Amino acid sequence: MSKSDDKQGIPESQASYLVEPAGQLAGESSVPGDKSISHRSLMLGAIAEGVTEIEGLLASQDCLATAAAIRAMGVRVDAPKAEGDCWYVHGVGLRGLKRPTENLDLGNSGTSMRLLTGLLCAQDFATTLVGDESLMKRPMERVALPLRQMGARITTSDGRPPVYIERNRGLKGIDYHAPVASAQIKSAILLAGLYARGVTRVTEPGISRDHTERMLASFGVVVCRKGLTVEIEAPASLRAGRIVVPGDLSSAAFFMVGACLASDRGLTLRKIGVNPTRTGVIDILRKMGAKIDIAMLPTRIGEEPVADIRVAKSRLHGIDIVAADVALAIDEFPILMVAAACADGVTRVSGAEELRVKESDRITTVVDGLRALGAKVEEKADGMVVIGGALHGGEVNSQGDHRIAMAFTMASLMAAGAVRILDTSNVATSFPGFVDHAARLGMKIVENRGE
Ligand code: S3P
Repeated sequence: MSKSDDKQGIPESQASYLVEPAGQLAGESSVPGDKSISHRSLMLGAIAEGVTEIEGLLASQDCLATAAAIRAMGVRVDAPKAEGDCWYVHGVGLRGLKRPTENLDLGNSGTSMRLLTGLLCAQDFATTLVGDESLMKRPMERVALPLRQMGARITTSDGRPPVYIERNRGLKGIDYHAPVASAQIKSAILLAGLYARGVTRVTEPGISRDHTERMLASFGVVVCRKGLTVEIEAPASLRAGRIVVPGDLSSAAFFMVGACLASDRGLTLRKIGVNPTRTGVIDILRKMGAKIDIAMLPTRIGEEPVADIRVAKSRLHGIDIVAADVALAIDEFPILMVAAACADGVTRVSGAEELRVKESDRITTVVDGLRALGAKVEEKADGMVVIGGALHGGEVNSQGDHRIAMAFTMASLMAAGAVRILDTSNVATSFPGFVDHAARLGMKIVENRGE
């Protein structure tokens, strides 16, 4: 077989995991910092007055892409010198960003590209945003369209990157009713709203994560929120401060499901962010029968809520997951579907078409992966039907999607044979050190890092 010619067209040189079956997870662990909060702390820190100190920033490829972008626009960002040290972002003020000399390459990071489109359409210089193969396929008109209504000049290529952003010739606030509940759309508009004349208002059809609203408030911006509507007016300045980034619930979710499936002694996850706009995964797992205890930890005013999460081995059963549940657990569907495949009975997911425009088409990728391990799954346009049962070993193509790779690593806990997961290098976009974390908690993973 030639190097680039295995049966799924994946070069052998590409990174992969081989996970032993029937492992156990036990003990206690933290997980790396929250990705959404880390991106926002870098971006708002960049345009604040003064130095923003960030404790627990996620140093993953996605967040490093945001850090590189703001550095390319003249912002000094000091990375920690030793483990446990803070990051420092030396803010240049609302109007202090400088024109980058090259295109901004945002790698795999949709959050960087969408939020920066909002921030950059308000600057006095032009920019071009590009990314990796996956990001170059993702829809950008969802942010470009409302930003154009504000007066921004943005060109996409058939709706996708490269995103060409002209220099700002004056933005005005809009009253935007978003077609989908998306924190990325809402955040892009709010970031542009920091520079707009008049009121910028966004109303969503459902709740999406509210880290931008919380963090803007902690930087001194007056944020008015009522139901599904948020509104701001351009402030004179943003006030730098100190941010503590909690552990990412989306990363913890892999171990939460793993512990439900295979933790005779239980697992405790320390200092995890439990912002209520993110905790859909906990609600869904509890509905499936998961035994999860949340012990809230004290936080200072303005900080994101944080908790220790204790999970005991649980017998899971299938449930119906409908549109209203989706946005609050949008990134957790790959691992929730692995849980469904290992549960008793049938899980039906509907109203989840947004999953098709993530780092991969997460409906098709999950369906293909579960089928490769012997699960019975039916693909629907807006979701899937998963019939719980036994899994066997096999080979799963993650399609370069970090969350698919990590979700199927956990599937091995219930599989009768070893699971090989292909194309795993992008796990580092959200969870650097995932294999070591999983190994410390008892899993047996051989990582081929590729060439
Ligand atoms: C994110 C929002 C979500 C999520 C993504 C991170 C954010 O996207 O899927 O991983 O940080 O704003 P949408 O809000 O567009 O669904």
